Amino acid sequence: MASISSPTMLGLLHLVAVFLTFSTAHSVLDCYTSIFSFGDSLADTGNSIRESKNAQFVGHFPYGETYFHRPTGRFSDGRLIVDFIAQELGLPYLPPYLGSSSDRDFHRGVNFAVGGATALDAAFFQERGIRNELTNNSLGIQLRWFKDLLPSLCPNPPDCGDIFRRSVFLVGEIGGNDYNYPFLQRRSLEEIRTLVPLVINSIGSTVDTLIKYGARTLVVPGNLPIGCSAAYLTVLESPRGEDYDPRTGCLTYLNEFSNYHNRKLLQELDRLRALHPNATIIYADYFNAAMGFYRSPRHFGFYGGAITACCGGGGPYNYNTSAKCGYQGATMCDNASSHVAWDGVHLTEAAYRWIADGLIRGPFFSPSIETPCLSLGSRDHSYYE
Ligand SMILES: *[C@@H]1O[C@H](CO)[C@@H](O)[C@H](O)[C@H]1NC(C)=O
Ligand SMILES: *[C@@H]1O[C@H](CO)[C@@H](O)[C@H](O)[C@H]1NC(C)=O
Ligand SMILES: *[C@@H]1O[C@H](CO)[C@@H](O)[C@H](O)[C@H]1NC(C)=O
Ligand SMILES: *[C@@H]1O[C@H](CO)[C@@H](O)[C@H](O)[C@H]1NC(C)=O
Repeated sequence: MASISSPTMLGLLHLVAVFLTFSTAHSVLDCYTSIFSFGDSLADTGNSIRESKNAQFVGHFPYGETYFHRPTGRFSDGRLIVDFIAQELGLPYLPPYLGSSSDRDFHRGVNFAVGGATALDAAFFQERGIRNELTNNSLGIQLRWFKDLLPSLCPNPPDCGDIFRRSVFLVGEIGGNDYNYPFLQRRSLEEIRTLVPLVINSIGSTVDTLIKYGARTLVVPGNLPIGCSAAYLTVLESPRGEDYDPRTGCLTYLNEFSNYHNRKLLQELDRLRALHPNATIIYADYFNAAMGFYRSPRHFGFYGGAITACCGGGGPYNYNTSAKCGYQGATMCDNASSHVAWDGVHLTEAAYRWIADGLIRGPFFSPSIETPCLSLGSRDHSYYE
């Protein structure tokens, strides 16, 4: 009896009470327990490799060379931004939705992202004669997969709310392919600009639906600077010097296009924030995180240059549509970590790692992610010195 009235014990009880009050009032400060990811090849951890068209190249070395030492279906030499985010949150790498049955343990999250996927449905491009031969698994299909999964994720519907409240929903990057296909098939800039509001609408309505299903933390990335991509620099090579940014060598009008998409996306996110004050909608600024590499490649250890691809079949940017990475005729550079560009479209693990760091600890998540559970493991790796 003596102990319960002792000052120490009372103090301890009080602390526990304060802690309990604090943790229920600020439930966002819980650890996240799962991640649900939607998107395209920037986030695909093994879905599109199940589709024969993609398996032809991403299923071969040197994809996966640096980190996993085998092709996993990731469009890089190693890990992706989503892998680093999972790692930072103390979660395992996300299993792909279309993975093998032994891999279908989704209680800590699942990845619906598919390489080649578009925000708009495949039929949209088919009607306009824009070729998309890689996949029909657009954002809408991925959202349907999510809905199909609910009965097994939370057989008791109220449990969904509990799970989703402590989940991060990564919606994108998506939309890049909606522009890649027509740009690389040389459609006009004017025509492609008309797609932007439709793409934004598709992303926005997906975010809105997920919030209605109980999502509370959503991360929505913008587009990368496509004017710095070896594929664009090669296919849309310009004879006019003034089309290029003299500092970076990137095609300025294409980066302006990415910025246009990103500005429209930000407006849409603001609209959704006003509609859903309880949800935290985080914009992930992939564009500016990556622009740092093109402006100051050596600062990040990119001594191989920022715009020349590590893996490719020759040409000024080591990007050759007749010998893409993973196909015959392509070769890999000595050290992928000294390059930003992996295969001319996707980035290297080293670049993705810097971006993830710049999101989680740097200024490129807005607002920043609130969780007491960030892994301290990679503090040595900081976007800003
Ligand atoms: C996409 O759907 C169309 C029409 O159903 C089909 O012809 C095409 O083969 C599909 N593409 C892929 C990559 O599955
Ligand atoms: C928002 O959060 C508050 C406090 O947790 C809750 O009372 C309210 O019902 C929530 N509103 C919606 C629309 O979920
Ligand atoms: C590869 O490049 C990275 C980044 O510049 C550097 O830190 C690393 O030492 C290089 N590795 C080798 C084997 O040269
Ligand atoms: C592109 O690849 C093809 C097929 O391997 C090859 O014949 C051609 O020389 C390459 N072009 C350049 C610019 O390296």
